[in-house]
Amino acid sequence: MNFESEQFLNYTQKYKESLNDSTFWKDVSKRIDWFKEPETIQSGGFDNVDFKWFEDGTLNVSHNCIDKHLENDKDTTAIIWAKDAPGEYEHISYGQLSKEVNRVANGLKKLGIKKGDRVCIYLPMIPELAYTMLACTRIGAIHSIVFAGFSAQALRGRIEDSQSKVVITSNVGLRGSKQIPLKPITNEAVAGVDCVEHLVCFSRTDAPYEKTDIDLTWDEFLDGTSDQCEPEQLNAEDPLFMLYTSGSTGTPKGLVHTNGGYITYAAYTHETVFNYKKGDIYFCAADIGWVTGHSYIIYGPLANGATTVLFESVPTYPDASRYWSIIEDLKVNIFYTSPTALRALAQCGDEPVTKHDRSSLKVLGSVGEPINPEIWNWYNEVVGDKRCPIVDTWWQTETGGILISPIPHVTPLKAGSATRPLYGIEPILVDATTGEELTGNSVEGALCLNRSWPGLARTIYGDHTRFKNTYFTQYPGKYFTGDGCKRDEDGHYWISGRIDDVINVSGHRFGTAEIESCIMGSPHVAEVAVVGADHDIKGTCIYAYVIKQDESLSDKEVQDSILLELTNGIGKIAKPDTVQFTTGLPKTRSGKVMRRILRKIANNEHDKLGDLSTLSDPSVVESLIEKRKELIK
Ligand code: WT7
Repeated sequence: MNFESEQFLNYTQKYKESLNDSTFWKDVSKRIDWFKEPETIQSGGFDNVDFKWFEDGTLNVSHNCIDKHLENDKDTTAIIWAKDAPGEYEHISYGQLSKEVNRVANGLKKLGIKKGDRVCIYLPMIPELAYTMLACTRIGAIHSIVFAGFSAQALRGRIEDSQSKVVITSNVGLRGSKQIPLKPITNEAVAGVDCVEHLVCFSRTDAPYEKTDIDLTWDEFLDGTSDQCEPEQLNAEDPLFMLYTSGSTGTPKGLVHTNGGYITYAAYTHETVFNYKKGDIYFCAADIGWVTGHSYIIYGPLANGATTVLFESVPTYPDASRYWSIIEDLKVNIFYTSPTALRALAQCGDEPVTKHDRSSLKVLGSVGEPINPEIWNWYNEVVGDKRCPIVDTWWQTETGGILISPIPHVTPLKAGSATRPLYGIEPILVDATTGEELTGNSVEGALCLNRSWPGLARTIYGDHTRFKNTYFTQYPGKYFTGDGCKRDEDGHYWISGRIDDVINVSGHRFGTAEIESCIMGSPHVAEVAVVGADHDIKGTCIYAYVIKQDESLSDKEVQDSILLELTNGIGKIAKPDTVQFTTGLPKTRSGKVMRRILRKIANNEHDKLGDLSTLSDPSVVESLIEKRKELIK
């Protein structure tokens, strides 16, 4: 594909029309099976942060993901569960999915769960996770899925904030033959939490577990339930689910997505970006605990009647060829993963890839972080045999679905660029200091969206003011993404990464403030500043500068206590790669830590520190650099 190709010229034309033509989203919404078709397509906007989509339409998401396909595709496989044990697969048809989901929906009703109630799901990658989330949508309950790698404290915070009435978990999670004790973590998380009325526990293995007095086994939960359940007729703007993500300040925020806009956008983008065709086997290797899994393992693919792979294990179990063996076994056509996974696998050489037949592959996707050109080329040449377009998809938990991405066989590709906005999406770059829009090509600035689209989150659960302040005040009238971005000479977009106080580690978001406040829980720490530093595999890693409470404490003692705080407070995923001890931090005269300098030091860019004149004590910088050099040795 090149910039003069007919396909790309058509894209450019259609893109322009999509922004000017008021019927564009109306046409897209027709792919959804509405109980009542919407007449009002869009109202409100960014000025008052009151945008709505399809507001007078009614629908049900589980009906669109399941019932809609029963007439013609009852026996088509909806989900292929690739279990932790290599080579073990379970095929679940749309017909079976319907029965399972309806039973869980009736089980939830039996527990008194009604439209609008919150249900917290803390499950590993098993079919019951898909059943419970779809069951919630069937009755209009709002699911809040918590990634099964988060700690008890993190889970507790999310349960309390969402005021979940039911928590659904399993005895253990299996990952690479290791067992994660989800039930004990859940018991610890809910102890003394008033809002939780019931705990439901699925047994993934035979291992017994400790029950609380509000516990139900999976069998008790489903006992006597019918496999028929009428889908609730929901308003397009009724909340569908909430999902927590980290921001630059304070505690994680629960982004709220709605029924009509979200499912329209997830289904539409799944088809467009992956060039999905009926019959394709589609494998997204993310975890449903993150938004990628919500939109592109479950909602988008199932709304399109696809066969979607649900992968329980890890890419390196039993060895680095796991993804490629699944691709061969299941004849996967579309594969979607993260740069971090690709970097880790590329390190193991080409042989684990090339020994497997990948001739079924048609499209390869990447998500979560910037993909460096080297690994893009490896993905293209080794995995895709230069036959498969790579779609580098840029989006966020907030955006609901992919916003900037190539369209296969349409958009000219460049290694490392997410290329062009999808139809109906209007990205703009603004000067980070003046807030002025940067027009034309070859410009770089803060990435904003100039208008809403159906998939954008509507609010932060319980805190609309925080929603407004976080995304819509810095550049009034625009949605600010937190990312920096370049538009090159051809008009292609290159996302450079976060420019706010968010660190993206292996595609997972952490707030520096969130990590710092956790580390401050250690009695041995007097002061801490956390930044992101470049990392060969993770893209970015956590780098902590720490001042000890007492100089006589050993490094190990303090380090261990920091690790304990982070493991307990967030989870093992928040482990810092480096803890650098120091006796001072670079601060302005008003006492603000200058992270810009700390980032440069962590990245060994000692000659690019910039202006140090505003520091209250510039000598701190020298000693930080000395210490940094020692650490590398
Ligand atoms: C942040 C959003 C979107 C699902 C997974 C992460 C970064 C995401 C790309 C990409 C460069 C990317 C951005 C964004 N990001 N995709 N293709 N190229 N950066 O969702 O946890 O909400 O994180 O991930 O920095 O803001 P998330």
